[in-house]
Amino acid sequence: MAILITGGCGYIGSHTCIEMLNAGYDIVVVDNYYNSKPEALARVKELSGKDFPFYACDIRDEEGLSEVFAKHQIDAVIHFAGLKAVGESVAKPMMYYDNNVNGTLVLWRVMKKHGCSRIIFSSSATVYGSENASPLKEDFPTGAVTNPYGRTKYVIEEILKDICVSDEEASAVLLRYFNPVGAHESGRIGEDPNGIPNNLMPFLLQVAIGKREQLSIFGNDYDTPDGTGVRDYIHVVDLARGHVKAVEYALTHTGAMPINLGTGVGYSVLDMVHAFERINGVPVPHVIAPRRPGDIATCYSDPAKAKALLGWEAEKTLEDMCRDSWRWQSQNPKGYDE
Ligand code: NAD
Ligand code: UD1
Repeated sequence: MAILITGGCGYIGSHTCIEMLNAGYDIVVVDNYYNSKPEALARVKELSGKDFPFYACDIRDEEGLSEVFAKHQIDAVIHFAGLKAVGESVAKPMMYYDNNVNGTLVLWRVMKKHGCSRIIFSSSATVYGSENASPLKEDFPTGAVTNPYGRTKYVIEEILKDICVSDEEASAVLLRYFNPVGAHESGRIGEDPNGIPNNLMPFLLQVAIGKREQLSIFGNDYDTPDGTGVRDYIHVVDLARGHVKAVEYALTHTGAMPINLGTGVGYSVLDMVHAFERINGVPVPHVIAPRRPGDIATCYSDPAKAKALLGWEAEKTLEDMCRDSWRWQSQNPKGYDE
């Protein structure tokens, strides 16, 4: 028995590989290295002390993927492989629909051909759109998304729900991540963004290390305690452990099940900047800038369902998130390009 991890070389995938190996699972990884480097998996092997099969395969390559399934007995798939840059998705929607939506269709077809009907899908809090008030619960309406990236997540959720209605063997755990930050506590693996980071923590880290001059805080006139945007930041190792629990769930249940992976606590942009500076003793020069189009004031989870169904809850603190992010960034100033 093995678990296939698509996109296992990426930020969340590499941390999940370690937690799956630590939990005693055999894993098989596929990734096309579109947004990752081989060094990440070399370090996963170093940290876990375990080897595992890897295939440099695009999930849209039906033949290549079939060969992977023919070689290994795959019982479930954790499906991270996807593109995730919101701005790029607006400029190149076809690329996003093809990679994310078509990629998932090809993956499911190959899975079924080889008798595998269990998938854990990387969805996002973005499916809740801007209409719902936090704390966000899984039964709130979804789909009022504002960009093609978010639409791919929503559409894939709907496709997997339809499949689970039509196929009584199918199991799909739709994990809605809030805002993943942090890194493995060893400082050996972490997020290695290409180009100018869009997300708060990777940008903040590049300011802290001196690669960029200052952080622009996008708006301080939101209806939040200090006027800056509030989000549910979750440590990537907590998130990775949520996947181990989701695999256990998928192996023993059928049907489609959306589940939030968040802490249930919201922090503002200024909370994050001040906590980072205090915990690491490193200044983060920042200025207030105009709001970023498409942003909402507040977004945090109700994490009760994950606790009830998976027996999972986030354990790491804001201090862990800031300290571990900085350890990774300061020990690897050029990411995996050393
Ligand atoms: P990432 O870019 O670091 O990892 C994705 C991995 O998938 C990369 O290694 C990439 O090379 C690979 N990949 C992409 N397309 C592929 C394809 N067609 N075939 C094979 N491999 C392919 O991103 P991440 O932050 O680890 O995110 C993982 C998943 O979680 C993505 O689906 C993302 O949309 C989703 N997600 C991420 C966040 C976040 O903030 N990081 C939030 C919500 C959801
Ligand atoms: C963004 C995406 C969302 C995606 C998520 C995880 C947008 C509009 N939304 O969410 O679809 O699922 O990332 O990948 O892009 N901030 C700054 N300065 C910065 C960067 C961010 O002030 O340089 C602020 C933002 O305004 C926000 C908070 O920090 O209030 C978090 O931003 P970010 O990390 O980009 O995540 P989200 O906006 O939650």
